[in-house]
Amino acid sequence: MTELLDRLNREHRALSRVLDLFDDLLDGFHEGREPDYELLCEMLEYMESYSDQVHHPSEEDIFDRLRARTNESYPVLDLLTKQHQLLGQMNKRFRRSLEGIVHEEVLRRDEVEVQGRELVKTLREHLDLEETEAFPLARERLSASDWDELRPEASSMEDPLLGSTQQERFRSLFRHLAEQDES
Ligand SMILES: [Fe+2]
Ligand SMILES: [Fe+2]
Repeated sequence: MTELLDRLNREHRALSRVLDLFDDLLDGFHEGREPDYELLCEMLEYMESYSDQVHHPSEEDIFDRLRARTNESYPVLDLLTKQHQLLGQMNKRFRRSLEGIVHEEVLRRDEVEVQGRELVKTLREHLDLEETEAFPLARERLSASDWDELRPEASSMEDPLLGSTQQERFRSLFRHLAEQDES
């Protein structure tokens, strides 16, 4: 019944580790070091191609079902839905700024750092709100048949960081996560 929620929770843990790496890169950037652009690009690619395209839409399916099941309004779900859209935009904006730096456009480093920090902060708060409020609500209010029906709708694409098939595509990211494990 909660297979889907378990998957989403596992993905949150994978994403949290990416956010820790993100923080480290931004700290270095703040101190004037050039970030590892390959790593940063893979992180953004992961967030755009998996979090925004698969993870968040699976959650939207759950939220829509909750909304459809009761006549209540759910401000917390509405906020999360708004954040799903906002996070996609923040991600794209940050990626454009990074590309600007790589192509030597004149950009203020502190502004680029703020964009990165905001993205990390919003995403952390988002994951937390889902785990503390939205998922418990879904667990409590959706029936076994709701979960059965949600299952086929949920994408079968696996999180690249939790499987072994996309290690080449996210080579730098896998390597840094492994180093994080060792330290
Ligand atoms: Fe989400
Ligand atoms: Fe989530």
